[in-house]
Amino acid sequence: CGIVGYVGPAEAVGVVIEGLRRLEYRGYDSAGVAVPDQDGIQLRKRAGKLANLVQALDEEPLPASSTAMGHTRWATHGAPTDPNAHPHLDCEGRIAVVHNGIIENFATLRAQLEADGHKLASETDTEVVAHLLEDATERANGDLAAAMRDVCRQLHGAFTLVAVDATQPDLIVAARRNSPLVVGRGQGQNFLASDVAAFIAHTREAIELGQDQVVSITADEIVVTDFHGELAETKDYTVDWDVSAAEKGGHDYFMLKEIAEQPQAVADTLLGRLTEAGDIVLDEVRLTDQDLRDVDKVFIVACGTSYHAGMVAKYAIEHWTRLPCEVELASEFRYRDPVLDRSTLIIAISQSGETMDTLMAIRHAKEQKARVLAICNANGSTIPRESDAVLYTHAGPEIAVASTKAFLTQLAACYLVGLHLAHVRGIKYADEVAAVVAQLQAMPGKVEQVLETMEPVRELARQIADSRSVLFIGRHVGFPVALEGALKLKELAYMHAEGFAAGELKHGPIALIDKGTPVVCVVPSPAGRGVMHDKVVSNIQEVRARGARTIVIAEEGDVAVEPYADHLIRVPRTPTVLAPLVTVVPLQVLACEIAAARGNDVDQPRNLAKSVTVE
Ligand code: G6P
Repeated sequence: CGIVGYVGPAEAVGVVIEGLRRLEYRGYDSAGVAVPDQDGIQLRKRAGKLANLVQALDEEPLPASSTAMGHTRWATHGAPTDPNAHPHLDCEGRIAVVHNGIIENFATLRAQLEADGHKLASETDTEVVAHLLEDATERANGDLAAAMRDVCRQLHGAFTLVAVDATQPDLIVAARRNSPLVVGRGQGQNFLASDVAAFIAHTREAIELGQDQVVSITADEIVVTDFHGELAETKDYTVDWDVSAAEKGGHDYFMLKEIAEQPQAVADTLLGRLTEAGDIVLDEVRLTDQDLRDVDKVFIVACGTSYHAGMVAKYAIEHWTRLPCEVELASEFRYRDPVLDRSTLIIAISQSGETMDTLMAIRHAKEQKARVLAICNANGSTIPRESDAVLYTHAGPEIAVASTKAFLTQLAACYLVGLHLAHVRGIKYADEVAAVVAQLQAMPGKVEQVLETMEPVRELARQIADSRSVLFIGRHVGFPVALEGALKLKELAYMHAEGFAAGELKHGPIALIDKGTPVVCVVPSPAGRGVMHDKVVSNIQEVRARGARTIVIAEEGDVAVEPYADHLIRVPRTPTVLAPLVTVVPLQVLACEIAAARGNDVDQPRNLAKSVTVE
């Protein structure tokens, strides 16, 4: 979900709606906004996209106000309906609350409230908080921040909460535990939001909040305490991108803009990472080289597209460091009680740095004394803050829900981490590291080359947009690329799509192939590992013999694939391990164009959210 709060001289509802527009990628099944007013809280909320709320506000504007808060929702408790949309009110309509996360003990709290005579109007866990605040403000003689602390101490689960009280119209109080919240510090105006994109048009000065903190903002003051009222330490930072980075810049969709930005994003991520001594520079390191030398096993944990980056990283890390490396879906990791200790290194990959499944996986690992290195795009987010070392990907804000440039930068960062481990552990000499870094530095140019030749892919997308199912096959690092290609198509086109290890196809999935079934084949370089290349070419022949329409992604100069390719997409020659940086790009374009041809919302596909802060 996305949350915005504003206090200041501007027209607050407008500021909040503009902020919600920038946060809509976080959830878009309903939206609402509230202002404090002398007659109580005034609010509008609507199921569906933000546009529905904007229309409701046009038809029936809210009173002018210097304070407002808003919410855009990704439903957890209760269907995405008008009543379940946030904000939620207490009995008197005096207190309004918006919330991101899940309150795990809400059923017990609700039963207590109902026994005490409270009448709840929705099915959400959030409404419980408004009613708890109603009672708590009474106990605290109207002190909203004290009431918020009191309520937070009663809640279990993960939450960001923001509240306004109609009797204190110049104040917003918020709290956070395990869910994101940042403060934007303006001149005579202050902001609260799930991420800085919401207020970047107004200020680049931000304050990171820690876990279990409560913040009160007025136009001139920001006060942060812990849940017991002790003043808390906070960290100020300046956002290093501006509002243009969060706009479409002439592209039809954010996703197309972000695909086009990939060469720059990869170059930025690699910039200045190699010292003359052959060391790779991480951003924050609370681990010694000796700690890294003591590592005897690596686990990579991540979700979604980041998990696919992790699968690629496994090949690079094992190849370069000779350390055993496993990749695991973060949501599964802690439940199987993995064997971890001080010499285990966890690499957590997350674009947002807020994915709850990944956060819970690293917390479990830390309890077992494992070390955690985060690869993350959002500066100062929770996962890097709870890790022992961080390498930030410099992708800039990624707004389309389907990840593209973040994925490529994650790959680049994973390669750097692999090289760093190999160097620190004495497996690779400085000149060997420098040679691979040089190959990496050539990759942005190669990605650019791929982007320049995408017209036939667009044409192909229109031809296969009505297919019932599309399969993707690859071997070695081509396998995670196949999985990522299929994921993109599922997310965006709502089509049946599956990725397979090319060699596994004959053990079952080949039965799916019918006359004309499109099969996208990611072919390894014939140079490095010729055997692997030839095996994939055989796999292409197997599917073609069964009627498949083959779409082949292969290196320039690879003539062996030509007789078996119904469509041939060329990528520049690239060392095998680095190839995903180029081979995935046509698959991103393909999915985006198929989705557009099917009339889908490319940037905000149905049922999804970009940042999933619940388990
Ligand atoms: C969500 C998004 C995916 C993303 C995944 C992991 O499910 O829809 O696009 O890959 O979360 O997100 P993270 O921020 O941890 O990389």
